[in-house]
Amino acid sequence: MRHKNINHVVHEWLAEIIKPNDIIVDATCGQGYDTKFCLEHHAHVLSFDIQKQALLWAQQLIGEHPHVRFIHDSHEFIDHYIPYFDGIIFNLGYLPNSNKSIITHPKSTLKAFEIAYKLLPQHGWLCVTFYQGHEGGLSETLQGIEWIKQHFVIIKEYTYEGVNRAPIAMLCKKNDTVD
Ligand SMILES: C[S@@+](CC[C@H](N)C(=O)[O-])C[C@H]1O[C@@H](n2cnc3c(N)ncnc32)[C@H](O)[C@@H]1O
Repeated sequence: MRHKNINHVVHEWLAEIIKPNDIIVDATCGQGYDTKFCLEHHAHVLSFDIQKQALLWAQQLIGEHPHVRFIHDSHEFIDHYIPYFDGIIFNLGYLPNSNKSIITHPKSTLKAFEIAYKLLPQHGWLCVTFYQGHEGGLSETLQGIEWIKQHFVIIKEYTYEGVNRAPIAMLCKKNDTVD
């Protein structure tokens, strides 16, 4: 069975949900494709990565743009940089074509989810792609989904049905009935 590329599906969701001038956090900048997509949809973006190389590639991809700020720091510290945002994107795992041992970790990912929950407004959204193929990826996926189900409502979900350890993408809205 031919599956639609998961990144394309996520971008279709984002195209529907992003409004002009929204403030979006790209919690895992990587090569900058998600950041670029948000900018093309007239959002303002804060883009985080712990790897300088990722931010350099993203800057090369995007060029000078007045609505983006690249931040060389972990997404656990988003609240040090911004008090409010409309939506947040996580594309977990490792930077393609780079050191595959530098990956996202459940502890910092869950901390960033918690900050997102606090700083997002009522209409706020969280978009996450989990990868299970690399070491620790399955644990991060299980812990992340468990946490999301307690705090957010999943409005869209996509995976490669029938494929073992396929990535899982989710678009979620805040569940304001939780504390
Ligand atoms: C799968 S890539 C992201 C792909 C990217 N969104 C794109 O469009 O190209 C995951 C990125 O997360 C970064 N990362 C890992 N841990 C991080 C953390 N704690 N805070 C911010 N970025 C992190 C990695 O350095 C890597 O570049």
